[in-house]
Amino acid sequence: MFKKHAFWQIKKSNILLGFLIFIIMCSFFQKKENHTSSANYILVFTHTKNIIKELKNSINCVDTLNVSNLKKLKTSYFTARAIYKEIENCIEYQSPFDVKYFINGPLVKKAELEYGSRTFDPHGFQVIEELLFSGDTIDFAKLKNEYLFLNQAFEAYIKKIERSFIGDSQLLESLQFECIRLMSLSLNGYDATFTKTNIDETISALKGSQLFLNNIKKNYPTNLYPNRTHQKTILAINAAITYCRLHKDYDRFDRLFFITRHLNPIYKLISELHQNKLFPHTPVNYAVDLKKVNPFNLNSFNDNYFSVTVNDTLNKEPQVELGKLLFFDPVLSGNNQRACASCHKPELGFTDGLQKALEFETKNNLNRNTPTLLNVFYQKNFFHDGRSRQLVEQINEVLHNKQEMNTTIEEIILKLNQSEEYKALFKNAFIGTADSSISYFGVLKSIHEYERTLVSKNTKFDKYLEGDYTQLNTNEINGYNVFSGKALCGSCHFFPLFNGLVPPIYNDTEYEVIGVPKEKNSLEIDGDEGRKIISKNRIHQFAFKTPTIRNIDLTPPYMHNGIYKTLEEVIDFYNKGGGNGIGINISHQTLPFDSLQLTKQEIRDIKAFMLSLTDTTNLTRKPKRLPHFKDEKLNHRIIGGEY
Ligand code: HEC
Ligand code: HEC
Repeated sequence: MFKKHAFWQIKKSNILLGFLIFIIMCSFFQKKENHTSSANYILVFTHTKNIIKELKNSINCVDTLNVSNLKKLKTSYFTARAIYKEIENCIEYQSPFDVKYFINGPLVKKAELEYGSRTFDPHGFQVIEELLFSGDTIDFAKLKNEYLFLNQAFEAYIKKIERSFIGDSQLLESLQFECIRLMSLSLNGYDATFTKTNIDETISALKGSQLFLNNIKKNYPTNLYPNRTHQKTILAINAAITYCRLHKDYDRFDRLFFITRHLNPIYKLISELHQNKLFPHTPVNYAVDLKKVNPFNLNSFNDNYFSVTVNDTLNKEPQVELGKLLFFDPVLSGNNQRACASCHKPELGFTDGLQKALEFETKNNLNRNTPTLLNVFYQKNFFHDGRSRQLVEQINEVLHNKQEMNTTIEEIILKLNQSEEYKALFKNAFIGTADSSISYFGVLKSIHEYERTLVSKNTKFDKYLEGDYTQLNTNEINGYNVFSGKALCGSCHFFPLFNGLVPPIYNDTEYEVIGVPKEKNSLEIDGDEGRKIISKNRIHQFAFKTPTIRNIDLTPPYMHNGIYKTLEEVIDFYNKGGGNGIGINISHQTLPFDSLQLTKQEIRDIKAFMLSLTDTTNLTRKPKRLPHFKDEKLNHRIIGGEY
């Protein structure tokens, strides 16, 4: 007994000693590898403490409420918000989960496939904002609860940064992300939906960026540090702040001007600072390549982030060409009459122009409208309900679908092997890999590589963003501003992909309940349950993936059931407040119910802006002929299928 005890004593002291040496070594290596920016740690620490102080004040106010306290409560809310925005970059970077669920998540119930049928109520600043600013009466019990929640979240954050704080390279990353956040979320009414203080909050975020940058600078000897770029960045941020101070009206704020003349130059400069060898990039595969200087240019998107075939660069060109042939070849269907291109026709922006796609053989209507394949690659979930998470998986599903292509793996391989030309094409496309014969993987991979090339990035809008300011007229510019501001479209269709993949990390796909009716003039909701079919979660009933509106001019009719023939009809639906606005009763609609009160001119401008998102570069690249088969009957195949 005694012996055992002594042994444990020795062990314990050894462990303690080892632990101490470990800590000392860790801090030594950390210092050497990456500056931990103690000034920035103090900045974030004191800011968080100050937020906590404001929240505690607010809780006291709620406890002893009278009229003058309500005013105090509101002032205190704005103070806490301003401090939060100054360090938002850091909190988002270190605790994205807490931000989404407890600090600043949008005002909708959340659910994740991983958590089964559980739903999560929204918490945080936005709930408090709604309680304080949305109506005449305030639910004080709920308000207090929300303050306590939020307080807890910040207490947890303090503990987190006490355990470990990020280095300067990571801080620069977080500042680049913050710029993207401003462009695509804050200025688009993603938060501050009731107070509409988005412009003030942008000022706070920019001020915060300056504080961080100046603190980073202090860590390095002046002869090593890129002083000129630093100085330019600080000046550019000053200019942006001045612009915001002079233009505080949320509805009239010229977002496009601000993005192109202020935020983008700032992003570019921070990205240049980050290129300095003092700040090695972290080896993380982000959606946006932080080394590129334009976060909104689709060339800056990192293909490997969106694809499973990471680093697989062998024979890309011949695979794309083979994929294109397969895409247009009806030999891939059970009756040799349908190709992918039967429903995804290039000249119609890779859609079919029908309300709903046609069924195999019967030619009856299927359940849903055919979506565009332009920029299809820049997504994390596919189909209107997001049921497929990989493009290759999606192709697999379509080929086997009895209503679409109605074929099997065996059938495809057997058939393709009857063509010497296809054999040679596969060999050429997969030479040097484990299998260069005709394989199912080869079919999927080639079509995937072809789809990856269906990128539209040369729209008038893109050229304007690149600096050619002659590309858009006043109506189109105003259209973007209304789209992102007053009409709230941009709070779901996120700049610059204009789909529901949330920037700046591009990991979350948003599904929204907007209440699309069964028929154009019907007051009944469409019976398609959308995302709920996959998640089995009631909050997803009638929720659909937010589709891109790039090339929208080419792809009517609109919505998952194709009920709207024109963009005017779509805008009119939104202007009335979606399903709820037109008289359908859906309690969990995630689109605001109120009328947007858009003027006729604003409606015309939104449309003009949407038309500026058209790029026809990819639409003519059809194969001139299809590979030859021994079986003469097969040589009458129609390029792109018969129907
Ligand atoms: C019968 C018409 C039809 C054919 C043939 C067809 N598709 Fe589709 N495609 C659709 C429809 C309809 C959807 C939406 C289905 C849904 O959401 O449930 C879709 C969805 C897709 C999507 C997901 C797009 C997104 O943004 O989520 C991709 C990718 C796609 N198809 C590629 C292909 C490929 C590749 C082929 C050939 C192997 C093909 N399709 C054949 C009609 C068709
Ligand atoms: C709450 C989020 C949300 C808001 C706000 C929103 N949308 Fe949408 N949008 C969606 C979703 C989700 C769909 C798909 C609905 C469906 O398929 O039934 C969609 C579909 C569309 C479509 C049809 C796309 C297609 O290919 O069929 C267009 C066009 C469109 N929205 C434009 C707008 C405009 C313009 C506004 C602002 C006036 C706007 N959206 C506001 C979520 C939103």
